Amino acid sequence: MKLFDVYPLNDIAIVKAQGSYVWDDKGQQYLDMYGGHAVISIGHTHPHYVQRLEDQLHKVGFYSNSIKIPLQVELAEKLGRVSGKEDYQLFLCSSGAEANENALKLASFYNGRKKVIAFKKAFHGRTSLAVAATDNPNIVAPVNQTDNIIFLPFNDEAALQEAFQQNEISSVIIEGIQGVGGINVASESFLQKIRSLCDEYNAVFIADSVQCGYGRSGKFYSHDFSGVNADIYTMAKGMGNGFPVAGISIAPKIQPKHFMLGTTFGGNHLACAAALAVLEIIEQDDLMNNATAVGNYLIEQLNQLPKIKEVRGRGLMIGIELPEELKEMKKNLLFKHHIFTGEAKPNVIRLLPALNITKAEADIFLQALKTELA
Ligand SMILES: Cc1ncc(COP(=O)(O)O)c(C=O)c1O
Repeated sequence: MKLFDVYPLNDIAIVKAQGSYVWDDKGQQYLDMYGGHAVISIGHTHPHYVQRLEDQLHKVGFYSNSIKIPLQVELAEKLGRVSGKEDYQLFLCSSGAEANENALKLASFYNGRKKVIAFKKAFHGRTSLAVAATDNPNIVAPVNQTDNIIFLPFNDEAALQEAFQQNEISSVIIEGIQGVGGINVASESFLQKIRSLCDEYNAVFIADSVQCGYGRSGKFYSHDFSGVNADIYTMAKGMGNGFPVAGISIAPKIQPKHFMLGTTFGGNHLACAAALAVLEIIEQDDLMNNATAVGNYLIEQLNQLPKIKEVRGRGLMIGIELPEELKEMKKNLLFKHHIFTGEAKPNVIRLLPALNITKAEADIFLQALKTELA
C-alpha cells in the first residue's frame, strides 16, 4: 500500500529530537523554530514527560470512558488552575478539529440556534462544521457546505453588530491570534465586543485556542489579553506536546447531559498523563513568562531588521511578513541554515517554537535571518 499523497514533503526524515533541536537520519542537526506546527510546547523528549508517559504505559494505557478515570479529574483541576478558569468544566477529545466540532455543537445544544459567526482567514480544522467555519473553499467538500456559517471581516466591530441584529446567532468562533491565516491578532476591543454581544443575545463565545493557546502567547489563552472570558475555550496542539490530546473548557452556565458529547479515545489514561506532564512543566519552569520574554526579544530584534514588511504576534507566536522577492526564505532557512520555520500565505514566516526556547537559540535564528536579509 502507498501513502495517500496529501502533504507536499521536505526530503528530511527526523529520527531524534531533544529540547528545541531535531536530527535527521544523516546526523544533521536542525533548530526547531516551528515546534512541529505549534505542537511542541515543553520541548522535544522532555525527561519528565518521557518518564510520566513511560510510567503510565506500565500501569494502564487505555480504558473506556465508561469507568472513572481519576487522571481526568486531576487534569481538569490542574488545567482549571493554570488557565485561571477554575469554575469551568472539561470535556476531553483528541484533535483540534474535534474540539471545535464539539464546541460548535455544544453551543447549538445550549441555545437551540444554528447560525455561527466565523471570520475571514480563519482556520478551525477539517471536519464537517469546523471546516465549514474555515475560510478556505479549497478544503470544503460539497458535503460540508452549509449556509449556517456567516463569515465577517476580522476585527470589524460594526459588521459584527449588524450580523447579530440580522440573524439568530448561536455562536461566534474566533482564534485569539489567527495562525494559518498569517498571524493576525484579534484586537482587545473586538474580543470585548464579542463578549458583550454574546451576553446581549445569549450567544456562545468560542475561543479557538488550538494554536494560540496553552501559554504560547505568554498568557494561557491569548484571548485573555482582552480581559473578558469566553464561554468555551478549545485546545489541542501544545496540550500533549505531540501526544494527540485535546479538550474544551466550558463555562458553568452550560450544563451537561449524558451522551450529548462523547468519544472513544478522548481523555484516555495515556493522554491524561501526557497533558498533566505538560502542565507540570509549564508551571515548574515558568514557561509562560519565558514565552513572553523570548517572544518580546524576538519581536524587538525582528523590528530592527531590513526588508521585513511587518512583524505580528504575541509571545512565541510570531509572523514575519516578507516582500514577494523573498518567497524562498522558509526553504533557505531550512536547507542552508538547518532551521525549521512555518509559513502562511502569501509570504509570512511563522515562528512557533517550544515555550522553553532560550534567548541563545533565538539568536541563532536571528543571525541566520540577518544573513538571508543582507
Ligand atoms: C486555530 C486552529 N484550530 C483548529 C485546528 C485543527 O486542529 P487539528 O489539526 O488538531 O484537527 C488548527 C490546526 O492547525 C488550528 O490552527
